[in-house]
Amino acid sequence: MSSTAKPYIPRLLQCPEISFFLFGPRGTGKSTWLRHVLPDALYLDLLDASQFLELSRDPHRLEAMAADRSDGAWIVLDEIQKIPALLDEVHRLTESRNWRFALCGSSARKLRRGGANLLAGRAITVNMESFSAAELGKSFDLSLSLEWGLLPMVLRGPQQAPDILAAYLDTHIREEIRQEGLLRNVPPFMRFMSIAGQLNGQVVNMQNIARDAAVARSTVDTYFSIIVDTLLGHFLPAWRAGVKVREAAHPKFYWFDPGVARAAAGWLHDPVDRPWEGFSLETLVYHELRVYNEVSRKQRPLHYYRTPAGVEVDFVAETSRRTTARVPHIVAIEVKRADKWNPAWNKPLISLGTADGVKADRLIGVYTGERSYRFGAVEVMPYEKFCDLLHKGDLF
Ligand SMILES: Nc1ncnc2c1ncn2[C@@H]1O[C@H](COP(=O)(O)OP(=O)(O)O)[C@@H](O)[C@H]1O
Ligand SMILES: [Mg+2]
Repeated sequence: MSSTAKPYIPRLLQCPEISFFLFGPRGTGKSTWLRHVLPDALYLDLLDASQFLELSRDPHRLEAMAADRSDGAWIVLDEIQKIPALLDEVHRLTESRNWRFALCGSSARKLRRGGANLLAGRAITVNMESFSAAELGKSFDLSLSLEWGLLPMVLRGPQQAPDILAAYLDTHIREEIRQEGLLRNVPPFMRFMSIAGQLNGQVVNMQNIARDAAVARSTVDTYFSIIVDTLLGHFLPAWRAGVKVREAAHPKFYWFDPGVARAAAGWLHDPVDRPWEGFSLETLVYHELRVYNEVSRKQRPLHYYRTPAGVEVDFVAETSRRTTARVPHIVAIEVKRADKWNPAWNKPLISLGTADGVKADRLIGVYTGERSYRFGAVEVMPYEKFCDLLHKGDLF
């Protein structure tokens, strides 16, 4: 490491005991984390031209390369999507040699494309995202995160955030275009990215997007599936008490990181306005909820809440499932980019908390002010306190 190297920031994600896939958008710190949690592993990086050539010509080389390793030893294959065919060899070696594999890549999409079997359920999957506020601790800066997001590269050079994010998205788009064979469709894909960037945090209507991007409806579906499969964005489905999800409204779409959303929108050089910051704050809350779901392995279903009358709550975590005998339990979270909490904002939470067919365990307001409040069943708290309670396992 050079003397200017910044210290490693420990991540919340724990290394599994058994073979695993590690997926996540590029630049979220996957390779860095693997080197820290598996320091003794044989580390093969398929971005390295010589390792790539050797293994792509002859996947059986893998056994020879690791031959001196004992039972239970770890082998890391970074950028595994470059040689999907290696997975058959990995599968064989987990059984014949009892080695454990950490298989890292930006998405399962390219592996499936390559016709790879995902080890027939013999490996678990973990996802890595941008930094969590809980990982950054005292160095977490909310206003910086609202503007530029939480990618490690961005946090290392916040002064260059616009350039870093522009290059990040550019690399990503180029790579997807190449991988997906979209070469003849570059302009529509670019138009789509910018529309999808601008509607971060909003309800998506595929028909309208198809019209605005001047592409077929089915093309919009394909483009979204590229973004979702590469974990750059997530659909948040609608939820209604006592109603099947299918019957509820369209989903919302969120990018994994507010800085990447801004880059996609093409607004890196425009000042952000309050409505955009509102969606940014929701993006951060959703990000922390996904990180918590991942590191706690709780995987609670997340939704937003909307009634036909227009009552809306930003996030609903279903903490115990609906059964024939029992209504679902939920934790509801309303997010406001505001330094003062307006008690009128409690109404949608209370309306959800008193709705039929659901039991609300917690009703939470998250905002950017400094004090905590309690209005009857509604608990209002600053963003930082919310993250703290969430990661302590206090909310669900
Ligand atoms: N835990 C960390 N602490 C400090 N810096 C990090 C950490 N993880 C990643 N980084 C920074 O972010 C950059 C990108 O991380 P990397 O591990 O290459 O991401 P990925 O493998 O997901 O593409 C690294 O070069 C490093 O500068
Ligand atoms: Mg990497």
